[in-house]
Amino acid sequence: MDSVAFTPGDKATRYRELLPQLRGLFDGEHDLVANLANAAAAIRACVHKSSWAGFYIVRQGELVLGPFQGNVACVRIAFGKGVCGLAAADRRTVIVPDVNEFPGHIACDAGSRSEIVVPILRGKELVAVLDVDSYELGAFDDLDAAGLAPIAEVLGTLAW
Ligand code: SME
Repeated sequence: MDSVAFTPGDKATRYRELLPQLRGLFDGEHDLVANLANAAAAIRACVHKSSWAGFYIVRQGELVLGPFQGNVACVRIAFGKGVCGLAAADRRTVIVPDVNEFPGHIACDAGSRSEIVVPILRGKELVAVLDVDSYELGAFDDLDAAGLAPIAEVLGTLAW
C-alpha cells in the first residue's frame, strides 16, 4: 500500500485543528498535570512524525520532566544544556534537523534523529518547554515552529 504523502498544507491544517481541541480539553479543568498529560497525547497524535512529545517544567532553576508520551526520558536538564536547555536559556524555538550534528544533544532515546523545542511563557516568565522528537531526520521545519507557536501560547495560560 502506498504511504500517504502529506503536503505542507496538511501539516498546517493539523496544527490549526489542534488549537480548538486543546482549548476544549482545558475548558473547565484547572489541574496542570491533567491538562499537560492530555496536551502531550494530543500533540503526539497530531504530529505524525513524532516519536516523543512532552514537557520539561522549570523547577528551581532547572528543567524537570513533566507529562509526556513516548519512551522513558531523562529527568533533569540544566539551562543551556542540550536542545531543551538551549531553548529555555534563549527563550526561543530551536529546530535540530540532525541531532548528531548538535553538540551537546542529550540522547534520551538512541533512535531519536531530529527535534523541535518550543519555550512556553506565562507572560514574561518561562514556565516550561515543549519538546517533540522524531526518529526521522529533518522531521521539523518552520511550519512546525509556526504551528506550535500558538499552541505554546495557549499552554502558557494554564495553571503553572
Ligand atoms: N534531546 C533533548 C532531551 C530530552 S529528550 O529528547 C526527551 C535535549 O537534547 O535537550
